[in-house]
Amino acid sequence: MRILLSALMLFCQFGFADINIYSDRDASWFESAVEQFRAETGENVIIVGISHKEMIQRLVTEVSEGGTPADLVISKDLLYFTELKRRGMLTSLPEVPAFAEIPQGMISEDRSWAAFTYRARAAIFKPGIVEARQLISYQDLADEKWKGKLCLRQGSSFYNIALVSSLIVQYGKEEANRIVEGWVANLAAPIQPNDRAVIAAVDEGKCQVGIINHYYLAQQMVKFPELSVEFRFLNQGEGGVHTNGTAIMKINQSDNKTAQVEAFLKALYSEASLKEISAAHYDFPASTTVNSDTFVGQWGPNKDGEFLVQGLSWDEIGAGQNRADAVAIMTDAGWL
Ligand SMILES: [Fe+2]
Repeated sequence: MRILLSALMLFCQFGFADINIYSDRDASWFESAVEQFRAETGENVIIVGISHKEMIQRLVTEVSEGGTPADLVISKDLLYFTELKRRGMLTSLPEVPAFAEIPQGMISEDRSWAAFTYRARAAIFKPGIVEARQLISYQDLADEKWKGKLCLRQGSSFYNIALVSSLIVQYGKEEANRIVEGWVANLAAPIQPNDRAVIAAVDEGKCQVGIINHYYLAQQMVKFPELSVEFRFLNQGEGGVHTNGTAIMKINQSDNKTAQVEAFLKALYSEASLKEISAAHYDFPASTTVNSDTFVGQWGPNKDGEFLVQGLSWDEIGAGQNRADAVAIMTDAGWL
């Protein structure tokens, strides 16, 4: 009875959509992709905007009750979608030409997820006190020359867990541990509740340097034009800046629908759609051939939108063991 009721409710909700998508990103960001899909196929797509937590609960419940109406899922953090993969919920996306343009590491080798926008997690600094060229790498921020100068948000933040996990993948556990201990030893102020608070702390001179996702600074710069904080991509001389992002994936319980999914992917990865989605959040399009139309498209060491990304496999960064090791390192260092 419960299954029947659930199926009935879902039928009412989705009506006659040809593809159903659950998204923890705002559905309004995908207007261009949806319009293009409709124009090309004559078919309908429904994107249900839902928080990540609800999405996981809903998928788990629906799958255990015999089926989910979701064909595709859009999720905003590599720790979220590698988790869905680990739970066995995903199957390979059909290959589309745009996948060849996705930067290294931002598409799963088995195509169980593919990024379409990404962000960089790196340094901000107070101009006039710190010079851009002084900010080199994640390791360098652990050096005691930065003692009493660094601001960080909570270690429990998924952004920081993914960052530390990437350091484990790149340098090994021991070096990642040394870096994290160095950062904590260099703190200038109590741990901040979020990235915006880190930006405010640097702006107010409570600290000289902070680590944040680049789009928060872009958003705050628009909101507060007088803000006196600058962004710097780290590790440009050694391995590239840490990235994370938003990906699309196919639920393994989805009926075949290969042609529809392929058509939607083509629409999603069109230039107009990638520019629309990245502009909505000051993200970077996950394509080597499309740049952001917003001012972050000019960021980079040479102010031309060119910068080196870490290039590590997001599957590896999100792997259960690396993630668990990252949390253990951060907990031991007192970064809570
Ligand atoms: Fe965020």
